[in-house]
Amino acid sequence: MSEFQLYADEFCEADQVDLVGFSCRDTKHGRYCTEWILGPDAMESIANYGTKVWLFRNATGQIVGYGSVGTVRWRWPLPDGSYTSLLYIPMLGIDRRFQGQPPDAQWRYSRQIMNHLIAEANSLNRERKKPSEYLLLLVDPKNEAAIKLYARFDFELLPGVTRGLGHRVMKHRLYQ
Ligand SMILES: CC(C)(COP(=O)(O)OP(=O)(O)OC[C@H]1O[C@@H](n2cnc3c(N)ncnc32)[C@H](O)[C@@H]1OP(=O)(O)O)[C@@H](O)C(=O)NCCC(=O)NCCS
Repeated sequence: MSEFQLYADEFCEADQVDLVGFSCRDTKHGRYCTEWILGPDAMESIANYGTKVWLFRNATGQIVGYGSVGTVRWRWPLPDGSYTSLLYIPMLGIDRRFQGQPPDAQWRYSRQIMNHLIAEANSLNRERKKPSEYLLLLVDPKNEAAIKLYARFDFELLPGVTRGLGHRVMKHRLYQ
């Protein structure tokens, strides 16, 4: 097993002490993602919407990052289809010390986290009475690192659709 292997555990309140000092960088996107996991949003999303949130640790127990999978109720197809419950990645982030690491792309932490989230989304989808055709997410169009990462995992930008504060929607086809 590689020293870069990550281990996923479902996030719970008791993990908050281990997150002291966790930071996805002091940038607009980084601060937003840090606040989501350090503040009340993550626990509220779990309690109110059944979102699953994982912390990813390395072999020495350091928290490398986090990710989440949940559902949203959006009109689908956007913008004016009927209201549908869809699988969705609310948030993910990697601590600044681990972004772009390790250099070996095969073990890149972003890749391990995305693989986990997509596998979990497919597994949740198999349990649904009405499977979701796509896994969706919102991304700030200026967040180049995130857009490149998602594109590597076959997420496509929906042309001409923005939501909230100008965020773009990306979709990844799930197994049916
Ligand atoms: C988005 C995030 C999870 C990606 O993790 P990462 O470790 O930086 O990912 P990678 O090293 O695999 O980089 C992804 C791609 O972006 C590129 N990249 C990294 N930083 C970049 C930057 N500042 N500007 C432009 N491209 C950048 C990388 O070169 C790579 O491109 P490639 O696939 O062509 O090689 C991480 O940067 C992060 O936590 N950011 C802050 C929180 C955030 O934005 N979360 C997502 C939205 S909620």
